Amino acid sequence: MATEAKNKWNYREDNDVTSRSTAPERTLDVREEVSTGMLHQASATSRLNFGIYIHWPFCISKCPYCDFYSKVVRHNNQDDLINDYLDDLNYYNEITKERTVTSVFFGGGTPSLISAANIEKIINFISKKWTLSPQAEISLEANPNTQTPTLFADLRQAGINRLSLGVQALNSPDLKFLERTHSLQEAYSAIEQVTKHFANHSMDLIYARPQQTLSNWLSELHEAVRFGFKHMSLYQLTIEDGTIFAKKGIQPMEEKKATELYNQTNQFLNDNGYPRYEVSNYASPDFRCRHNLLYWQGDDYLGIGKGAHGRLKRNGKFYALTHKRQTEELSAQERAEELIIMGLRLPQGIDKQRFENICGLKFDNIINNDKANILQQNNLIENSSQTLRATKKGFLLLNYIIEELCSEQ
Ligand SMILES: C[S@@+](CC[C@H](N)C(=O)[O-])C[C@H]1O[C@@H](n2cnc3c(N)ncnc32)[C@H](O)[C@@H]1O
Ligand code: SF4
Repeated sequence: MATEAKNKWNYREDNDVTSRSTAPERTLDVREEVSTGMLHQASATSRLNFGIYIHWPFCISKCPYCDFYSKVVRHNNQDDLINDYLDDLNYYNEITKERTVTSVFFGGGTPSLISAANIEKIINFISKKWTLSPQAEISLEANPNTQTPTLFADLRQAGINRLSLGVQALNSPDLKFLERTHSLQEAYSAIEQVTKHFANHSMDLIYARPQQTLSNWLSELHEAVRFGFKHMSLYQLTIEDGTIFAKKGIQPMEEKKATELYNQTNQFLNDNGYPRYEVSNYASPDFRCRHNLLYWQGDDYLGIGKGAHGRLKRNGKFYALTHKRQTEELSAQERAEELIIMGLRLPQGIDKQRFENICGLKFDNIINNDKANILQQNNLIENSSQTLRATKKGFLLLNYIIEELCSEQ
């Protein structure tokens, strides 16, 4: 069985909830709900966290391993596009204006291609339309290849307070293998600028590259922690269908070796003050990514831009929001399964009361209890009256655990 560390869910926390296999019961447009007059009713979920994800689907070049939705476009008309984003925000504001925004995440693609002036415009628009929590986390993913002498200072000035840098490798041969368009020198310079201008920062690295040895990876990790980043996202390389790597026949690292690297990564990061708080994410409790926690904990969020989607609970119903303002209604059962899939990614697992508060269903009535007992006997999960979580051993087999728990009784 594949280790969970190699599963594609690992790096999809930016805005990709695992797709559902069943068709939605019905689709409706948000406008329909607005016109029924439900708009101004106070939502029972207003006390929960609420995030806005802004997806910028453009990149300078296409990386050979990447199957995220992104296009290589150099001369797009940014101002027109930004106005479309504001229109979409305005549209969704009509049904969520009572919510307090606790996080905003600019993801991609390469959102560091958006001008700082436009970033500021979007943040200002959000703060005018919603209550923006004074403690709101406002993150942006930046690529070192978009660096200008003032990029990071400008982004900080524009209102970004958490910067996630896509370094991916800390040696030249592997940057070349990954066909990153930044050099090691450019990575260092971006790291220096990010740590200078931000107090909250994260670094993305891809490991389990073919041929990578444990000792080489550990020396990269040594270097990474030396920079003092507050958060690390460390993803094992997956070879996705349709990518250039897949077409070239690049093979993922052998499973046993990849598992060893994953376990050693967890140990090293833990020993260096970065406990794992999600399958591929490491930070002390103060610096966990609050926006990504929304997805794993089942809170509501909007997704703006092509390639983004959201989740919203209103008046006891669940909606999946997709691009072009489409809204699909999810059944409580479908939402419950999503909560299980996402919640198991966290070491503390699923809080059964919280689960019930969100989807209205009793956790123990949803899962296959016979299978849960077997999983528990095999030391893959711990199942108490309050929580269900994967054990250390189970964390490597999350796909299997999810399949078993969600199977027919
Ligand atoms: C939305 S992507 C891109 C962010 C940014 N454009 C960049 O390239 O740095 C977020 C992260 O997913 C990870 N990623 C993308 N494709 C991957 C793959 N096939 N295997 C492992 N990690 C991957 C990379 O670490 C990347 O930083
Ligand atoms: S820059 Fe980032 S989003 Fe763009 S193709 Fe590369 S990995 Fe994908």
